[in-house]
Amino acid sequence: MNKVENSFLNKNQFGEDFLWGVSTAAFQIEGAHDADGKGSSIWDVFTSQKGKIKNDHHAITACDFYNSYQTDIDLIRELNIPNFRFSISWPRIMPTGVHPVNQAGIDYYNKIIDSLLASGIEPWITLYHWDLPHSLEVKGGWTNRESVTWFSDYAAVCAHYFGDRVKNWMVINEPSVFTGAGYFLGIHAPGKKGISNYLKAMHHVTLATAKGAKVLRNAIPDANIGTTFSCTHIEPATQNAKDIEAAKRVDTLLNRTFIEPILGLGYPQKDLPVLKKLNNYILEDDLNNLDFHFDFIGLQCYTREVVKSSLLIPYIGAELVSADKRNVISTEMGWEVYPPALYHVLKKFNEYKGIKKIIITENGAAFADTVTNGKIFDIKRTHYIQDHLEQILKAKEEGLNVEGYFVWSLTDNFEWAEGYNARFGLIHVDFNTQKRTIKNSGLWFRDFLS
Ligand code: NOJ
Repeated sequence: MNKVENSFLNKNQFGEDFLWGVSTAAFQIEGAHDADGKGSSIWDVFTSQKGKIKNDHHAITACDFYNSYQTDIDLIRELNIPNFRFSISWPRIMPTGVHPVNQAGIDYYNKIIDSLLASGIEPWITLYHWDLPHSLEVKGGWTNRESVTWFSDYAAVCAHYFGDRVKNWMVINEPSVFTGAGYFLGIHAPGKKGISNYLKAMHHVTLATAKGAKVLRNAIPDANIGTTFSCTHIEPATQNAKDIEAAKRVDTLLNRTFIEPILGLGYPQKDLPVLKKLNNYILEDDLNNLDFHFDFIGLQCYTREVVKSSLLIPYIGAELVSADKRNVISTEMGWEVYPPALYHVLKKFNEYKGIKKIIITENGAAFADTVTNGKIFDIKRTHYIQDHLEQILKAKEEGLNVEGYFVWSLTDNFEWAEGYNARFGLIHVDFNTQKRTIKNSGLWFRDFLS
């Protein structure tokens, strides 16, 4: 047994129907970047450019999940994890982003789905986890309004080929992160910058979320359809009016901008005036096509941010006070370890009337793990997970809506601009040999779920 002695957590406290799972994404694990007819994605191109990723890491092989998926599915079963979230690589099944489909790509995902089901593991598909086909980026990517049609055609292909066996779907992963980092700051693929790229991408991604969900609903009437949002508990650095106002703007940007239109509330332009520029891209009738009644909303929360007013920062007039400046414990990502953030976020999102069900579709921590005598005592990660589960319990005891928890991530993997430096896995990967070693956190989770 690998129980961590000081944890009193028991799975039964969360109720019989509570969903337990683990989350991954295609580009971060699959590798096989050009195998069997796969097209390039914006991330294949971005990672091939010098200086974009820490240590110039790339994901040509990543965790080699393309070839070793059976090993990893066996490990999911060994860890007693009943739900597995993974994403479809759009250019693997549609190499140029549009028809025709690549049958080898379809066959690959069919093998994964069938293997999961044969192992008694429920598949959860994310349609879009950031790896847009490069051929579409050449046409402007998400800044091109056509992207809504490209995406809904792709959603229809996924529903057609996988919808007979897969019932749990997530449309788009963390829109605020990939549009902000990829189309405003240029630090993620495709490396675009500027406010107009960002706002166009924001509006088209929001339209595509609703449209993609409708496509799934029509094609798979009994599907459980969600979409995922990153969210962060925001606090002002001081109780000065300026910092409080700045914190409100950051909260609007990070937590409200993408979900509110989906819930039929429109863009929060009043609380973040720069969003008024969106009106340049909103066409007649768009406002009637932004919402969808999702079966669940996936929330992904890792930390809190402390905000102070800063007139030097354009559009938002605010800056984050980083964890190292605050002298708090943080992870390898530089994110403060602050479990109550999860409780606060749950409380906040529970205030939206239109949310049927909330699932935590990602939570986890990056720490530098070292293998000692074939074992990994990642006590910090184990405590991180336990402490966050306690916050969920607190929320549940207060009657808040939260019905599942998925750990990010199954294995260490390619952490975008951070490369392989940030290890989030319950399972360690030696990227030279591809050897997997279950960490103590994974063993704890296994025993907790048994
Ligand atoms: C959010 C993203 O969905 C995932 O791809 C990423 O690896 C984790 N959070 C950790 O940063």
